[in-house]
Amino acid sequence: MQAPTESLEPDERGRIIKSAVTPRPIAWISTTSTDGVDNFAPFTSYNYVSSAEPVVIFNTPDAEGDEQKDTPRNVLETEEFAVNVVTEPLAQRMNTTAASLEADESEFDYAEVERAACETIEPPRVADELGCTVSTASALFWRGARAIDGALDRLQ
Ligand SMILES: Cc1cc2nc3c(=O)[nH]c(=O)nc-3n(C[C@H](O)[C@H](O)[C@H](O)COP(=O)(O)O)c2cc1C
Repeated sequence: MQAPTESLEPDERGRIIKSAVTPRPIAWISTTSTDGVDNFAPFTSYNYVSSAEPVVIFNTPDAEGDEQKDTPRNVLETEEFAVNVVTEPLAQRMNTTAASLEADESEFDYAEVERAACETIEPPRVADELGCTVSTASALFWRGARAIDGALDRLQ
């Protein structure tokens, strides 16, 4: 198939780029809202952009109000998130955390994932698993696409 991208629906463009860029790592991102609710969701448009000064980046569509996902809203309001590594025993629960819950419901409770406190940031992490934390997150825009980046402040 050949077609200019602007002639395709957004879902179609998404399917094509996700098929072309595979396999992808999964960032299992935990955040805490300004109301104190722990949010948790997986993101595969994710990677690190630098290792010596470790910086990670992920994308979620730029949206307003109720259309905005909880993760970017929490990150942009608090500048904090944790990235958790998905191990095989937790793979099914990772999928469960992709559910669209109300902003006052926690995916940690919904997917029954045990959480532990992070040392330096408010969002929790997955207990007994590898992860890292970011306390300097911000949004970057390229040609209308939004990505959220942050320098790692702690590996744990
Ligand atoms: C394996 C997997 C990967 C995903 N990757 C992304 C992604 O890269 N970007 C995105 O916006 N949503 C992605 N999603 C969907 C979000 O996880 C989903 O919309 C989730 O409800 C967002 O939660 P939140 O509103 O609590 O932030 C992915 C879902 C799954 C299961």
